[in-house]
Amino acid sequence: MTQTTEYQATAAASGGAATEKFVEKAKAGPDTSPERVSALASEVLSAVHDVIRRHHVTYEEYDALKAWLIQVGADGEWPLFLDVFVESVVEEVASEHREGSKGTIEGPYYVPGAPALAADATLPMRAEEAGTPLLFHGRVRDVAGNPVAGATLEVWHADDAGFYSQFAPGLPEWNLRGTVTADADGTFRIRTIRPAPYQIPTDGSTGALIRSAGWHAWRPAHLHLKVSAAGCQPITTQLYFEGDEHVANDIASAVKPELVLRPDVAPNGEEARYDFVLDPA
Ligand code: DHB
Ligand code: FE
Repeated sequence: MTQTTEYQATAAASGGAATEKFVEKAKAGPDTSPERVSALASEVLSAVHDVIRRHHVTYEEYDALKAWLIQVGADGEWPLFLDVFVESVVEEVASEHREGSKGTIEGPYYVPGAPALAADATLPMRAEEAGTPLLFHGRVRDVAGNPVAGATLEVWHADDAGFYSQFAPGLPEWNLRGTVTADADGTFRIRTIRPAPYQIPTDGSTGALIRSAGWHAWRPAHLHLKVSAAGCQPITTQLYFEGDEHVANDIASAVKPELVLRPDVAPNGEEARYDFVLDPA
């Protein structure tokens, strides 16, 4: 199976789409008290002031920061930047008291309402979709070990070139995105392809920061999932693949050891099992 990718995902295209979708979702913000806003804003500003004092930041550096911040907004890259460099800690704090499966960051490319699929499903994909076929299967249980009947698994991931539908041009709207309903015994079987590692778009302001700092721009290949069921806390997570060099150095700091799959060779590609455990609501 070969497939030529004639398009390039640009920061402007993927960032712009991510910003548009996020702004729509976040329209009604939380009702935060002035005391909490004041405490959080003062401490963030104090942390910035400390850095300026400790490193003797110059006016030239201050102006470079201002120009860069302006450019991140102009590129529509705030969702990309924040989800790579900040979200993992928000998720860590949010999941402190969970007993069930580990979650991790959502990232900027979730879209609700992907096509509904049965428990034994093939994700929507192109006729000649490139990449190693992957059978991803498992069972959803509660913390007591009981199967969770009819759990919903929203799955989305990049293609074999590292691109997400609805954020890179040229891909069918729901490519490699689906909403799977597990069976009465909580089992699911999802046929897809193994995604490629994901590179933060290098042509925008996040890419410019990464280059200037001499960092790398890679996330390990991953499947995104949101698993939910009545009476349970929903979980947002990602699954990675053993042997991927970026599992040990994910730019988004979102890998946890429990989230690494060890796929087996299957007759027509690979197969990996993962069982989800959901906390009670
Ligand atoms: C980003 C992209 C991802 O696919 C992801 O899972 C997390 C972050 C990003 O570009 O910010
Ligand atoms: Fe991702």
